[in-house]
Amino acid sequence: MSIGEALDGIKASEIRRMFDLAAKRKDSISLGIGEPDFPTPANIKEAAKRALDSDATHYAPNGGVRELREAIAEKSRRENGIDCAAENVLVTVGATEGILLALASIIGNGDEVLVPTPAFLNYCPCVSLSGGVPRELPCSEENDFHLSAEDVKRSITDRTKAIIIASPNNPTGATLSRDELEKIAQVAVKKGLKIITDEVYERFVYDGIKSSSAASFEWDNTITMNSFSKTYAMTGWRVGYVIAKDISRMLKLHMYLVSCVSTFSQYGALAAVRDGYTSVDRMISEYSKRRDLVYDRLSSMKHIRVEKPEGAFYFFPNVSGTGMSSKDFADRLFEETGVVVVNGSAFGECGDGYVRISYATSMERLREAMDRMEAFLDRI
Ligand SMILES: Cc1ncc(COP(=O)(O)O)c(C=O)c1O
Repeated sequence: MSIGEALDGIKASEIRRMFDLAAKRKDSISLGIGEPDFPTPANIKEAAKRALDSDATHYAPNGGVRELREAIAEKSRRENGIDCAAENVLVTVGATEGILLALASIIGNGDEVLVPTPAFLNYCPCVSLSGGVPRELPCSEENDFHLSAEDVKRSITDRTKAIIIASPNNPTGATLSRDELEKIAQVAVKKGLKIITDEVYERFVYDGIKSSSAASFEWDNTITMNSFSKTYAMTGWRVGYVIAKDISRMLKLHMYLVSCVSTFSQYGALAAVRDGYTSVDRMISEYSKRRDLVYDRLSSMKHIRVEKPEGAFYFFPNVSGTGMSSKDFADRLFEETGVVVVNGSAFGECGDGYVRISYATSMERLREAMDRMEAFLDRI
């Protein structure tokens, strides 16, 4: 299938539709947004300003600024246990570009890719744009939205070439233990699959839960995606990266797609990796308090069933007790209260009956949104 043909079959983003709606109403509170509300830490902004002042305003090397690739490799060895070098790191325009590069470099026409759902909206369209066929693999609330090795095993066919694993997950927050991840990786690799892991929420874990990297034990068959966007509140800088044993095919596509990532953004990212996590830890501790607040409020609301998510910055409550579809719930909640949440079916067929609530918003706004939502649920 050509890219043009694939585009014909791809729907516009449901999240964008909600943004557009929210922009029309002055008193709206958006819990639909998937990005940190904090400013980028000052040390990172200063580093980018210095880079601009010293004229780092020209093309960077295609693979990324050398010092940044080295610093990412060093971080990934130290923190993630991935035995990589700068040559294994490709700096990308966010993880968004990384997803397409990874898929396009390993699949061909008609190849199937397992996409455990609910999942980040970009995966299935990127599989289609790469000529492949996305196969949703539903993860259920009964299993805390965790993917299991048995489900993976059952879903593999002769055409399956890869699986995308996001842990911590957007929208459910489900975070796989190292043991779960190892079992899934074993099944996948035994059947000849490549593993694409999306680790952009790796720092967003709570209550002592840890995120793990499949590449630390399955180096040969794993492509790891990561990003500065969420960890450092840098969504607009557009810096992410992929790590793989062989990045040459991804580098080729990256060259013809974007040439390189904005040079001064890369110097900002370099300061982020080098300067440690002081500001990040402060932000995570604030997210953790917000998570507690939203959990306390949601769990006492009528018609709602909710689990405390292990990671990321989203809740994915079950709203089927209202008798509405999740689209009707999201639409009515917005019309009657101005609170924006995302219809769960945007994240896959099995997301119907759920909505995504982001808590990347101030405590004050979260309290107000919860008050409005509670009053709405009391009325129905
Ligand atoms: C799971 C996941 N992966 C990747 C991305 C893309 O991030 P970026 O392109 O900003 O690095 C997002 C953004 O919401 C996400 O939720």
